[in-house]
Amino acid sequence: MNLKKMVGIEAANYVKDGMVVGLGTGSTAYYMIEELGRRVNEEQLNIVGVPTSSASRNQALELGIPVKTIDEVTRVDLTIDGADEISADFQGIKGGGAALLFEKVVASYSDQVIWIVDESKMVDKLGKFPLPVEVVPYGEEHLFRIFEEKGYRPTFRLENETEKKITDCGHSIIDLHLDVIEDPFKLNEELNQLVGVVEHGLFLNMVHMIIVGEEKGPNTVT
Ligand code: 5RP
Repeated sequence: MNLKKMVGIEAANYVKDGMVVGLGTGSTAYYMIEELGRRVNEEQLNIVGVPTSSASRNQALELGIPVKTIDEVTRVDLTIDGADEISADFQGIKGGGAALLFEKVVASYSDQVIWIVDESKMVDKLGKFPLPVEVVPYGEEHLFRIFEEKGYRPTFRLENETEKKITDCGHSIIDLHLDVIEDPFKLNEELNQLVGVVEHGLFLNMVHMIIVGEEKGPNTVT
């Protein structure tokens, strides 16, 4: 079975009747949302979804899953989302799908967070996957220069050959090609202090459970 589909379906089992559920973004979260849609329709599962992107919102609505924004709920019971890299100490990089801002907001107001990944996402240290930094377009060239000076090898995320990618919130994404992040907490502090940086893809101490898709089956790690 497709490993992403396997963990998407497995994670959906943790959703119980009456829950407010954060709906992640990406090709793995897609299968989890599909499974929730199936349960809503076939098992009369009663949930409210809080989508982390316009793509997940559209998918949920098409499946008949009721949705609310994060500001229309007081709390999220459980968020299930994908990740781009997870280190041995369970820190993560997210944002490969450019939805990191809403993903981080929803995760931070969630009682429980589950990440669902195929085994290729598990690494010793973070950094091989380019770290996305979401920035306000006004002043973005200055931030880009600062990252260059620091040796972070920045590139603007592109939508196509000529246009920059614009997020659901109207921001740009600068990807940092770091190879290895020796101290994610220090880098987190550093990025948070730069004016014009809205958020970045380091998700530190945010996850409660990881479901890893392996050939032999889903491996749940807490
Ligand atoms: C989107 C994300 C995704 O969760 C991450 O990129 C993983 O995506 P996929 O499941 O398609 O590999 O952070 O912003």
